[in-house]
Amino acid sequence: MATRNVIKIGDEILRKISKPVKNFDENLWELLDDMRETMYKNDGAGLAAVQVGVLKQAIVMEINNMYFELINPEIVKQEGEEIAKEGCLSVGGVQEYVKRPHKVTVRAKDRYGYDIEITGEGYLARCICHETDHLKGILFVDKIEKGYKE
Ligand code: NI
Repeated sequence: MATRNVIKIGDEILRKISKPVKNFDENLWELLDDMRETMYKNDGAGLAAVQVGVLKQAIVMEINNMYFELINPEIVKQEGEEIAKEGCLSVGGVQEYVKRPHKVTVRAKDRYGYDIEITGEGYLARCICHETDHLKGILFVDKIEKGYKE
């Protein structure tokens, strides 16, 4: 395992569309392991492969001491909405209010290519949306609720 450099906003790769993973092999596992280590080192709650310069649909997250890996994720259901602050390892030091669904269900593959489905509320739902946005070249700063105060 190794940590990789986190790409910062302004680099155009963050605006590119990530491609579906086809091979669930050692290359993917090494990428995921490196992403996990990179996320921990930077105190992040989530990281998408594009943030380490790899345009593959792969996400790692750690929420409430639960670790998740989502490959080729697709949000299939969403309910409600919630405005809360979020940040991003590619956008250092900034936290802004963003509206997200309160609850989402995501279908994905695990690192071996098996189907998984996760339903999350609140912060987990927020992280799933934030990270899947990365795979479409979308950053949270595109969605700031301007003028919102709690
Ligand atoms: Ni991010």
